[in-house]
Amino acid sequence: MEWPGLNISRNYLYLAHEFFNHTILMKVDVLLGLQWGDEGKGKIVDVLTPGYDIIARFQGGPNAGHTLEFNSIKHILHTIPSGIFHPHQVNVIGNGVVIDPVIFKKETEALAALGVDLKDKLLISTKAHLILPSHRILDAASEAAKGLTKIGSTLKGIGPTYMDKTGRNGLRVGDIISPAFKEKYQFLKEKHKDLLTIYNYPYDIEEQEKTWFEGIEEIRKYDIIDSEVFINQQLVKGKKILAEGAQGTLLDIDFGSYPFVTSSNTICAGACTGLGIAPSKIGEVLGVFKAYCTRVGSGPFPTEQDNETGNSLQKTGSEFGATTGRPRRCGWLDLVALKYSIMINGVTQLFMTKSDVLSDFDKIKIAVKYKINDIETESLPYDLNDITEPVYFEMKGWKRDISNVTSADDMPRELTDYISFIENETGVPITIVSLGPDRRQILFRK
Ligand code: GDP
Ligand code: IMO
Ligand code: MG
Repeated sequence: MEWPGLNISRNYLYLAHEFFNHTILMKVDVLLGLQWGDEGKGKIVDVLTPGYDIIARFQGGPNAGHTLEFNSIKHILHTIPSGIFHPHQVNVIGNGVVIDPVIFKKETEALAALGVDLKDKLLISTKAHLILPSHRILDAASEAAKGLTKIGSTLKGIGPTYMDKTGRNGLRVGDIISPAFKEKYQFLKEKHKDLLTIYNYPYDIEEQEKTWFEGIEEIRKYDIIDSEVFINQQLVKGKKILAEGAQGTLLDIDFGSYPFVTSSNTICAGACTGLGIAPSKIGEVLGVFKAYCTRVGSGPFPTEQDNETGNSLQKTGSEFGATTGRPRRCGWLDLVALKYSIMINGVTQLFMTKSDVLSDFDKIKIAVKYKINDIETESLPYDLNDITEPVYFEMKGWKRDISNVTSADDMPRELTDYISFIENETGVPITIVSLGPDRRQILFRK
């Protein structure tokens, strides 16, 4: 039989439908942070990597510090995706990432020293932007000029590099093969020098240039590709892809606690622009959150515990920035903010990390509402500084070491209650519970 108006047989349409179904079934899963970063994304990506063919970072740069622990090795990645320790997976640095060649070279050298062969496993987008020494200096000068209102940037040059990207001045990885590369570099550097005249900030760019160009030579050793084409081709071939986010939703340039945010879209939509994936190709959205909250750098933090509780979380959780070493501010889990993050990202599964850090507490608090001038609200206000105080729901602690629990059935009842409470409030299942920094300290829940 022919379909009216179409000169093709039903059988052909059926086959086409099957083929189409097959291709549209392959989707990219996106893993991202739901708080202010450092949720334990690196550890979870490392654990999930065997289930994927490709791991692709989609935004941020060396402001990120993703920690992986296994076989008594603790390793921190800044630019390179967290699937790199597995032998068969390809790791992609996507177009949305900003790369500092100096830090990149240090990372590759550290991995090589651990025996990781990067050559066939690491691909870099032609369209990823480069962080220049002058970007780093501009970052430092801008922060110094802000004084008490500083953002608490990691000072890796992230803001100025993304400014040059959107200002259409940036240098990209693809430029390094151009004969005019040095010229382009000089041009941008001079522009930065002009900008620096507005700050009274001492600097020496030339001192840092040698190592920067050595970093460029290191980048040249890898396959520099149009990663958006590669990723879409791999999807058609049926490959499984995991997009790895950096920072967290509350640091997103649009939806985070602006201006105390980073300069990229850390949310799920950032995976579309940062890798060249159509929204229709997004599969599972895997949201990672800590069982409590931390923040490093300045900015409002409604559930912050600037007291014994905070000190205890900081100490037990070893809460020091993986990139800067700064102590992280600590507080209780904020469900209002978590629900907002889930909404913005369309999270389909939640992964809760650092549950073990709460094991010593008699009582555990969760913020379920905010009070703004005596009025209770379940919405995130435009300015988080407007929140007078959070309204807490208190739960009984489990007071038991859980770091060696290997089955969800052996979890203390109080922990199961904690998980159920969050699931009921958010309407999203918690399918992974992390109980320690090591790869093996993890529970999968149905
Ligand atoms: P990321 O930036 O999201 O990858 O997180 P970071 O690596 O910056 O910070 C998370 C820290 O917590 C690292 O030191 C991890 O080794 C550690 N970590 C991850 N998951 C757990 C966990 O479940 N329990 C404990 N105690 N530590 C964890
Ligand atoms: P990962 O990927 C935690 C914070 C900084 C600062 C603000 C802006 O490890 O979770 P930037 O250097 O981007 O200009 O800093 O964002 N920040 C992070 N905090 N984890 C991160 O990354 C962060 N990356 C940036 O502390 O407050
Ligand atoms: Mg981190």
